[in-house]
Amino acid sequence: MAPRRWLLLLFLAAGVLQSLAQPDSRDCGLAEEASYVDDTTTLAYISDAGFTDAGMNYNISAEYLGFSRRGHNLRSFPDGVRNCYTLRSLVSGLKYLIRAGFLYGNYDGLNRPPASFDLHIGVNFWKTVNMSTWGADQGNTATVEAIIVVPNDLLQVCLVNTGSGTPFISSLDLRPLKRTFYPQATAEQGLVMLARLNAAPVNKTGTIRYPDDPHDRLWYPWFDATIWAEISTTERVYGVGDDLFEVPWKVMQTAIVTRNTSKNIWFGWESLDAEPRDDDPSRPGYVAILHFAELQLLNASNGELRQFYINLNDELAYPTGFTPEHLVSNAIYDTKPSRHSGYNFSINATANSTLPPILNAVEVYYVIPSTNLGTDSQDASAAMVIKAKYGVRKNWMGDPCFPRTMAWDGLNCSYAAANPPRITSIPPVV
Ligand SMILES: *[C@@H]1O[C@H](CO)[C@@H](O)[C@H](O)[C@H]1NC(C)=O
Ligand SMILES: *[C@@H]1O[C@H](CO)[C@@H](O)[C@H](O)[C@H]1NC(C)=O
Ligand SMILES: *[C@@H]1O[C@H](CO)[C@@H](O)[C@H](O)[C@H]1NC(C)=O
Ligand SMILES: *[C@@H]1O[C@H](CO)[C@@H](O)[C@H](O)[C@H]1NC(C)=O
Ligand SMILES: *[C@@H]1O[C@H](CO)[C@@H](O)[C@H](O)[C@H]1NC(C)=O
Ligand SMILES: *[C@@H]1O[C@H](CO)[C@@H](O)[C@H](O)[C@H]1NC(C)=O
Ligand SMILES: *[C@@H]1O[C@H](CO)[C@@H](O)[C@H](O)[C@H]1NC(C)=O
Ligand SMILES: *[C@@H]1O[C@H](CO)[C@@H](O)[C@H](O)[C@H]1NC(C)=O
Ligand SMILES: *[C@@H]1O[C@H](CO)[C@@H](O)[C@H](O)[C@H]1NC(C)=O
Repeated sequence: MAPRRWLLLLFLAAGVLQSLAQPDSRDCGLAEEASYVDDTTTLAYISDAGFTDAGMNYNISAEYLGFSRRGHNLRSFPDGVRNCYTLRSLVSGLKYLIRAGFLYGNYDGLNRPPASFDLHIGVNFWKTVNMSTWGADQGNTATVEAIIVVPNDLLQVCLVNTGSGTPFISSLDLRPLKRTFYPQATAEQGLVMLARLNAAPVNKTGTIRYPDDPHDRLWYPWFDATIWAEISTTERVYGVGDDLFEVPWKVMQTAIVTRNTSKNIWFGWESLDAEPRDDDPSRPGYVAILHFAELQLLNASNGELRQFYINLNDELAYPTGFTPEHLVSNAIYDTKPSRHSGYNFSINATANSTLPPILNAVEVYYVIPSTNLGTDSQDASAAMVIKAKYGVRKNWMGDPCFPRTMAWDGLNCSYAAANPPRITSIPPVV
């Protein structure tokens, strides 16, 4: 097996921060013109009405109103195969975190959530949303997140009906990220979140979110008292100089350690090939990002040392023993996606270590290609102008020509390899 490429973040002079575009949050199905400030995140939510011209608004049923306000209403798309949101005024080439939230909450009174539907970002497949993953006791919820580089100043997020129930959506958030962040997200590939775990958080039930994290990531609590002990500090944890992840310090202030120095911390997952797809038959590649900070003041002259190896499937994933710095957040991460049928990370103390291995947080993403080409942008703009001027045809949503199976009714497109599809004719407008 080829050596895996891992990279340790070094201490470097702090980079110049770039100014960021504003976060941008839509509460889907909220009455047009309505807006509010979310209590937990202090972010403003606006109605999604200006971003799609399809679908119908619903309120969820009263018994589920205990959930966050974003989930109280939604937009459902009973008509058409593909329905899209168009997000404008983005910065072309900038990296964004994009998050869609779903809370069924028996909005249709049928007590039958859709089994699944697909999400596309632009013309690229994003994820199949499985509404049965979280049980009915939770009102059937799902949250999906991706980190992508937007190719354009306009981005479309589409819900695709795959015959397993009516697609709907409760919220859609867009968060600009620094360009240097998550270097694995590029123009060619996006990252879809599989897990983002906060080890041994103080509050074991809630997710940690803005304002502790300017990038508004969701951190899920992770702790198993039967396996691990927890350690924590009340002191501030700072990032390394050239911090590519800026994990909130509240996340880094807590960690798991093994109860016995000779035991391993381990975690793992199975590859998602349970969902083989015609448009992407190969196994997805994964990247893992492990976040470490020492939280105890060690006495080196007394021989105290915490040093460990990081292994993936019983091979060294990082070439040497690693010792985290006191109160400094650092990451060890895959620079390239790896492909295995199963992943088992284990972290074990080196022979010289007097303290058990530690882990503060971990993120796992799988890679989606973002290389499908949408319709030639001038052709697409022209078609959208015509659509806006003369009213909507039923499936005039999303990209005009791509994918072929969802091309706009009445348009004729030409497809040449390696070039964006072109519109060859537009039907006479009635
Ligand atoms: C949803 O509830 C709000 C507030 O009670 C109400 O103003 C709105 O008309 C309802 N919307 C629908 C689609 O029933
Ligand atoms: C959705 O998840 C449930 C529970 O994990 C699983 O049984 C079901 O097969 C999944 N459905 C789809 C369409 O993936
Ligand atoms: C923990 O999180 C839950 C859910 O967000 C919240 O209701 C509760 O108040 C929090 N507890 C503490 C001690 O912060
Ligand atoms: C730690 O594990 C080693 C090897 O399994 C065992 O010999 C030792 O007794 C354990 N120590 C404690 C404190 O449980
Ligand atoms: C560190 O260990 C040395 C040697 O045992 C001891 O003399 C010293 O007091 C310790 N320092 C602290 C801060 O505990
Ligand atoms: C993963 O590796 C650890 C340590 O090598 C082992 O204890 C654990 O059983 C493994 N888990 C799986 C699911 O293979
Ligand atoms: C830690 O794991 C590595 C790789 O699995 C193994 O070679 C090494 O012997 C282990 N170290 C100790 C001290 O157990
Ligand atoms: C362990 O300590 C010895 C003595 O200081 C040193 O020679 C050796 O390189 C150390 N091993 C590791 C894995 O750091
Ligand atoms: C579009 O293509 C169809 C099928 O190839 C053809 O019959 C039709 O004439 C074309 N329409 C125009 C306006 O070129």
